[in-house]
Amino acid sequence: MPTPQQELEAIVRRAATAVLGETTPAGSLVRPCPRPEHGDYQTNVAMVAAKPARRNPRELAGEIIAELSRAGDPPFAEPELAGPGFINFRLRPAYVAAQIAARQGDPRLGVEPAAETRTLVLDFSAPNVAKEMHVGHLRSTILGDSLQRLFKFLGHRVTSDNHIGDWGTQFGMVILGWKREGDEAELARDPFGHLESVYRRVQAAAEEDETVREAARAELKKLQAGDAENLALWRRFIELSLQAANGIYGRLGVHFDTAHGESFYNDALPDVVEELVAAGVARESEGAIAVFSDGSLPPKDDPLLVAEKKAESGFRPNPFLIRKSDGAFLYATTDLATLQFRLREYAPGEIIYVTDGRQQMHFAQLFETARQWGVAREVHLVHAWFGTILGPDKKPFKTREGTTIKLKALLDEAAERARAIVDEKRPDLPEAERAQLAETIGLGALKYADLAQNRNLDYVFDWEKLLALKGNTAPYLQNAYVRTRAIFRKAEIDPEAFTTAEIELAEDAELTLSKKLLALGDVLALAAAECRPHYLCNYLFELADQYHKFYEACPVLSAPSEGLKLSRLALCRLTGETLRTGLSLLGIGTAEQM
Ligand code: ARG
Repeated sequence: MPTPQQELEAIVRRAATAVLGETTPAGSLVRPCPRPEHGDYQTNVAMVAAKPARRNPRELAGEIIAELSRAGDPPFAEPELAGPGFINFRLRPAYVAAQIAARQGDPRLGVEPAAETRTLVLDFSAPNVAKEMHVGHLRSTILGDSLQRLFKFLGHRVTSDNHIGDWGTQFGMVILGWKREGDEAELARDPFGHLESVYRRVQAAAEEDETVREAARAELKKLQAGDAENLALWRRFIELSLQAANGIYGRLGVHFDTAHGESFYNDALPDVVEELVAAGVARESEGAIAVFSDGSLPPKDDPLLVAEKKAESGFRPNPFLIRKSDGAFLYATTDLATLQFRLREYAPGEIIYVTDGRQQMHFAQLFETARQWGVAREVHLVHAWFGTILGPDKKPFKTREGTTIKLKALLDEAAERARAIVDEKRPDLPEAERAQLAETIGLGALKYADLAQNRNLDYVFDWEKLLALKGNTAPYLQNAYVRTRAIFRKAEIDPEAFTTAEIELAEDAELTLSKKLLALGDVLALAAAECRPHYLCNYLFELADQYHKFYEACPVLSAPSEGLKLSRLALCRLTGETLRTGLSLLGIGTAEQM
């Protein structure tokens, strides 16, 4: 079912085209009114078109309104001309009621799959073996998973791929460290943590001692040459780290369609470099091979250039290094091989990379290299980057001792804190249910705190705030869901079977809540288009808020008539389903009581 905004869009486009012909602006013409007192939706099409047509915008708007009046049975009442040439629309209550009625019992809540199916690869999480999965990987994992759920719900073809950092020069040190002081029991217990600490100690020793550096290089060489012992060690490290990561993914409910780590591309690296050289995209420079600017972008937008006051042009090269002078390949080379593989394997229209904002330069250079290579013509490359999680001191979030916060410890603490709240509020529930509830609330709160932020911003991590039952938090939304269910329990009606009520919208609060419910499809489309789940969070928060206002203004079980009672119950049910579906698209669960 189209949303009201989509229906309006089609009607406005038809009317505008009748008046403006070919000069009708492309792109969407209708958006929600920023101020509800002006209307529900508005268009500024007359203002946009007036200038090139050298017409008076209000006059043009008047003509479009005249044309709109020919629309048979429109969703809106009389459109209003406002200000310099806006046209404002207010939905007719009868239309809203019919739309709500039609959505009852639809598991997709009226949201149609997108008109155009996109094929995309989603690259997220991607922890590094021999480095603990830390709080930074939390954002990538949570954000990436929510995007994957959103895209899949909208009917797009998604391949989620975990590009695990399972290769690199650090493995020389890791293997050396393991041989010196590895501990089987520790490795089994906490592979990421143990390998990281082994790695750190060798790294520190290597800084003082050339022979340690030498020994690490020798181990790396052996590994790269296929030495059986080192290869077997490396395989075990990967295997155990993956198991540990999978434990976390399982707990978070995160799924990947594939997990090709960096090492998967090792064999392809020499060819990639050769191809780029042969294509004239890369060239030798001081023994290394790198990609340079081809001058086709304005220098200030070219990631292969960097501003340099002293240079005559004001810029100097900022090359993308793909082979070092010692023959070693880099993160960049692997990403190019990965790109090539994904294009062949999945033929995607888009590839979305979800990483920390500190990798912006890397991806800008990667995308520019892909453009020079010619492969980016077929595919849209997106870096959906995110900011940093900050501690209460507004510095990157660390433990009290100043070390990075391990992901697992964070999940445990979230569940423990939620457990304390559950124990206090619901001592009556059986033990198993309380444990389950604590996990749903704790992990939900953690995820939501992350997703509710515009991803490009840093945010301050605050346990009290994210677990609060008031404010824009997961527990607030989960609780709103519970309230929509409690009413059915009280009425002894099965909400699942309650799908055919007639809808009467008597009070303002009912109408406003209903309009909010009808906007779900627009919000999902926007969040997917911009890779920003926080739009969905804001929507759910506003919906829950509107529900509480409705609940206060409109008695449900003691409504003035039986018809109104059933209609209000239908609104409760649809609100509950919308909250539950919306939260599930964020990877957050709900409970029937809390
Ligand atoms: N392993 C990398 C890191 O932790 C992230 C990889 C992101 N994906 C990619 N294709 N480069 O920083």
